Amino acid sequence: MNKRAITEHPIHDIVANRWSPRSFDPTAVLVPADLAPAFEAARWAPSANNLQPWRYIVGFRGDETFGKIVEDLSGFNAGWAPDAGALVVAITNTLTASGRDNAYARYDLGQSVAHFTIQATANGHMTHQMGGFDVDALTIALGVSEPWEIVSLIAVGALGDPNRLPEERRESETGPRERKPLAEVVTGL
Ligand SMILES: Cc1cc2nc3c(=O)[nH]c(=O)nc-3n(C[C@H](O)[C@H](O)[C@H](O)COP(=O)(O)O)c2cc1C
Repeated sequence: MNKRAITEHPIHDIVANRWSPRSFDPTAVLVPADLAPAFEAARWAPSANNLQPWRYIVGFRGDETFGKIVEDLSGFNAGWAPDAGALVVAITNTLTASGRDNAYARYDLGQSVAHFTIQATANGHMTHQMGGFDVDALTIALGVSEPWEIVSLIAVGALGDPNRLPEERRESETGPRERKPLAEVVTGL
């Protein structure tokens, strides 16, 4: 299956080849050492005032944390994401060191997650970010409290058979990836 981005200009292979599958191989196992480089890359993301507001909680398929995350997945995510080898909870600190609102808390977390996904891709893993989960329930289940906020999840694993997905999802799984034209998203290039 070729999901490589069809680009208007040449870009790095890792960026072109990253995509978000929903077909994960439920037999492929991940261990902490597999994901350490991706978390290392996430750690080295830039952030406003170098506050590094991000924190991550990772569950590996079969452990208690993974089970708690799976319980709070919404809708269709509950169908495919449990096949991932690991589920990562992406959390940010909404306050600065002086207790003020950190306007860049979620921005910086997203940038750190982007570093995570690129390094994971470079290491041969597939990633799929998710916003579809019960954030309140997961916040309680994982004992996360203010000023920390769960923002998103990342499924990480090995590519599985798209035929295991419900029929209506197979087309998007195997079809080409789409983006707005560059001229629409950049002014002045
Ligand atoms: C913050 C965020 C939330 C997302 N939430 C979901 C989700 O709940 N379920 C899902 O299947 N995909 C989700 N996605 C995946 C996007 O749909 C996907 O990244 C987008 O369609 C582009 O596809 P690509 O990553 O393969 O290029 C999410 C992505 C991001 C960044």
